[in-house]
Amino acid sequence: PSTPVPVLCVDGPTASGKGTLAAAVAHRLGYHYLDSGALYRLTGLAARQAQLEPEPVNEAEIAALARQLPVQFRADRVWLAGEEVTEQIRSEAAGMDASRVSALPSVREALLNLQHSFARLPGLVADGRDMGTQIFPFAPLKVFLTADAAQRADRRHKQLISKGISANIDSLRADLAARDARDSSRSVAPLQPAQDALLLDNSQLSVEESVDRVLGWWQARQPF
Ligand code: DC
Repeated sequence: PSTPVPVLCVDGPTASGKGTLAAAVAHRLGYHYLDSGALYRLTGLAARQAQLEPEPVNEAEIAALARQLPVQFRADRVWLAGEEVTEQIRSEAAGMDASRVSALPSVREALLNLQHSFARLPGLVADGRDMGTQIFPFAPLKVFLTADAAQRADRRHKQLISKGISANIDSLRADLAARDARDSSRSVAPLQPAQDALLLDNSQLSVEESVDRVLGWWQARQPF
């Protein structure tokens, strides 16, 4: 029998700091890292390139794209059909498209195998909205990360500015609220903590403090 792969899930809303936390924890543990949001962003981009609006009328066609996403990850960079799109998928518009395609049930279904394929030894840290509830329900540790809305808008603002992308804090706050509302209210796999998730509010914590907290929880769960 194959050795079970330990999976640590980090779920939470937009700009809660999931990506930073999950990548740092993966690095500290020497584990693989799944940024599931990137898969929805890539699907949104693939739909745009195919001139398909991320709408229910195009659900079957977008799901077909998602099922065969020609994607390559190397280090921190990502390619779609041979074109590097690392920066392109990080824009607010790409996030909004991702949120729209992610509300389509067949698209979520189409991305299942790809997400599961990231679970390889020595272990996986998976970041998203439904890692603990849908994709890896048997994971030994599920963290649900939150931060207050003003903090999240502020962080996203700094992140965009540091990349040389201009941004307006009020419209960011409105975008975050719209995205949270859609991600939480959709009928399939809405954003919500798993029943056995541990909640972490990082509004007042540094990245290092959050990482240490999660690593402490992880150690307390060993051996699996
Ligand atoms: O984490 P992110 O901002 O990159 O995610 C972009 C969108 O993708 C998010 O608004 C909702 C969707 N998403 C999802 O539905 N399920 C996931 N596991 C990850 C992201």
